[in-house]
Amino acid sequence: MTIIHISAECYPVAKVGGLADVVGALPKYQNSADVRSQVIMPFYDNKFTEEHSFSSVYDAQLELGDTTYKFSILTLKEKPLDFDIFFVDVPELIFKDYVYSADDTERFLSFQIATLDWLLTWDKSPDIIHCHDHHTGLVPFMLQESYKYEAFRKTPNILTIHNAQYQGWFSHDKVGLIPPFNFDHVGLLDWGGSINPLAAAIKCAWRVTTVSPSYMEELKLAANGLESLLSAESDKCLGILNGIDWKVWNPETDSYIVENYTNETVANGALANKKYLCNTFNLDIEKPLFAFIGRLVHEKGSDLFPDVFNAVLEKEDLSILLLGSGNKMVESQLENLKEKYVGTYNAFIGYDEKLSHIIYAGADFLLMPSRVEPCGLNQMYALRYGTIPIVRSIGGLKDTVIDINEQNGFGICHDNTAVPEIINAIERAIALYKDQPTYKSIRNNIMNIDHSWDVSASEYIELYNTLKQTKDD
Ligand code: ADP
Ligand code: GLC
Repeated sequence: MTIIHISAECYPVAKVGGLADVVGALPKYQNSADVRSQVIMPFYDNKFTEEHSFSSVYDAQLELGDTTYKFSILTLKEKPLDFDIFFVDVPELIFKDYVYSADDTERFLSFQIATLDWLLTWDKSPDIIHCHDHHTGLVPFMLQESYKYEAFRKTPNILTIHNAQYQGWFSHDKVGLIPPFNFDHVGLLDWGGSINPLAAAIKCAWRVTTVSPSYMEELKLAANGLESLLSAESDKCLGILNGIDWKVWNPETDSYIVENYTNETVANGALANKKYLCNTFNLDIEKPLFAFIGRLVHEKGSDLFPDVFNAVLEKEDLSILLLGSGNKMVESQLENLKEKYVGTYNAFIGYDEKLSHIIYAGADFLLMPSRVEPCGLNQMYALRYGTIPIVRSIGGLKDTVIDINEQNGFGICHDNTAVPEIINAIERAIALYKDQPTYKSIRNNIMNIDHSWDVSASEYIELYNTLKQTKDD
């Protein structure tokens, strides 16, 4: 079986968030004697593309409305990844030093058109076309409706929704950018008066998956305007929980962290990482260390941190370290707190992959008070490194973290993204930390929880097989 994943991000090539981690891991775990899983993504101007060499496998031109652009499909000369990866190089549109920006419509449309134009040249169509998020949401529509892609009408395609908050809306004035189709069907592109690539994909894809079962259910009630559509299409929708890449996220072998460890050596190993963090960020090693890693956006609840941090740092015995970037106002509020709480609070405003690994290893608790969390990978990385997650029970967080007060519990959960509830959760964590035997036993146990991709990757394969069957019937 041949699968092609179409995605805007893929680790280690280009990463903004968890989408990259998933697309950079899933194909590895899908590949087997019978399955060839590969990725196609845009060719950005970034560190990875600067440091690697590429060769072209296909050169052509694409039409975006009345404009013609040259493009190439590139592949890596050497093979540093465990799966085949291809890149769409549209020098005039895509080769920029950013992944997302105001020109997303033209960039991602050219990416999708170039991808399908190239797939048309394959001797045999892929068995499955797997699209990720709205950046590839017009693919299922074009496969079904565009005259030029008629050859793919029987090729099964899947949309995975990693985040329904972002839908890729653009005006009907730009409908001419989409390769010609029967205009009687233009309604498939529309939701609420705009062209909505995510909605179009939900309508046209053969199957829609979300990255956790709870998120699938929640979307029927809150999906940034798509609730009724998701309810109407629920028969073809299914939640499959993400895994994490155990080859990359493994405290025993992780080359980013200061000292490697297993669950037998976690006491010293995690402590060495904590020491590094405390020395680097001027924090007291004796206090429990609470961390946050992530995008500073409304969904993550990060706007509440200034109030939460002020409250707990005034009265509790703890240290806090934050790594993130996003909303400029929140960034500056979090930056300003540094002066007020020298020795107990610090923040690195920016993106730093290596530091994130050291924090998963060295922190005692990881905060995730998300308002929306389709899956969340951070809590699973934390578990793997023996760091106890403190989460708001929603989406994938609800599916992966059980509160210490429940049977077999190991995390700290709260119901709402609200300042008093987050403070209360932190206080419960401090109490747990004071009870060192219980804290240590939980730390050891959580490192054994298996969130590797094996199970989820085979759930996808099962789904692909069902679709192949439908196609052949
Ligand atoms: P989302 O995709 O919504 O941002 P996830 O929990 O799925 O959330 O994944 C976030 C990924 O991005 C994780 O790998 C996390 O470690 C990483 N990450 C987020 N912010 C930063 C940052 N500032 N520096 C380094 N890594 C980050
Ligand atoms: C999105 C979601 C996040 C999820 C990730 C990978 O970015 O916000 O919750 O873990 O995709 O699927």
